[in-house]
Amino acid sequence: MEIIEIMIEAAKKAGSILKDGYESSYDVKIKSSSADLVTSVDLDSQSAIIETLEKTNIPIVAEESTQKITEKNAFYVDPLDGTLNFVHGIPFFCVSIGYWENEMPIIGVVYDPLRDELFYGIKDKGAYLNGKKLSVKKKDLKDSILSTGLPYNRQKMMRAIEETKKIISSVQEVRILGSAALSLCYLAAGRIDGYWEDEIYPWDVAAGIAISTEAGVKITNFDGKDYKLKEIEIVGAIPEIHQEILRILKGF
Ligand code: IPD
Ligand code: CA
Ligand code: CA
Repeated sequence: MEIIEIMIEAAKKAGSILKDGYESSYDVKIKSSSADLVTSVDLDSQSAIIETLEKTNIPIVAEESTQKITEKNAFYVDPLDGTLNFVHGIPFFCVSIGYWENEMPIIGVVYDPLRDELFYGIKDKGAYLNGKKLSVKKKDLKDSILSTGLPYNRQKMMRAIEETKKIISSVQEVRILGSAALSLCYLAAGRIDGYWEDEIYPWDVAAGIAISTEAGVKITNFDGKDYKLKEIEIVGAIPEIHQEILRILKGF
């Protein structure tokens, strides 16, 4: 079996755990802040993913375990991206599994179980949604929809609000979707045109970057340099507006 097939098998198994869990009762615990939660469904989903990926013998860095980010080949797993949405009954969350080799995105698989939408991307082979090839659509900044996220840390949250204030008058609208992985996939699908966030982790974005870059999205850090997995800030957009977004957010 190829790595991507194993990743898809893991994402589908985890997706059905999320779908069943969404309608049932589960335990919820607070992590770093009252908005940063983990449920027993996150943990069940993660166990199913790890059990499936272990067949490959490739190291696994998963959000709810303690493995460290590695510069070597590894899977980056978010068993439930959008936990706050999930807990509130907002139907917008997913499973996210990225595979990186030597700091390069190689394969991304993101599965939205409620819509049965499977996004995947393979380096140099394109990005797909349920088998249909994805590519970004050209747009001017003023006609663009951007997505962002509010960091759980309140001080950093104020910075994100300031950034949103700076950019809002230049674009059509800004959304807070509540899932970094799906934001990047929506960027790949041309449903949104830009996305930035001030506090993200490899499991949030490793898969989404592999998918969106294959669809033609430009991804950098806030300095306009290639995004590295250990960085916590990210800016992704269709190439036509990426530089303008950076200029407005950072003033260069
Ligand atoms: C969060 C979501 C959210 C983003 C946060 C992430 P979680 O992941 O992706 O959209 O704004 O930065 O931590 O906690 O639901 O896995
Ligand atoms: Ca996440
Ligand atoms: Ca998560």
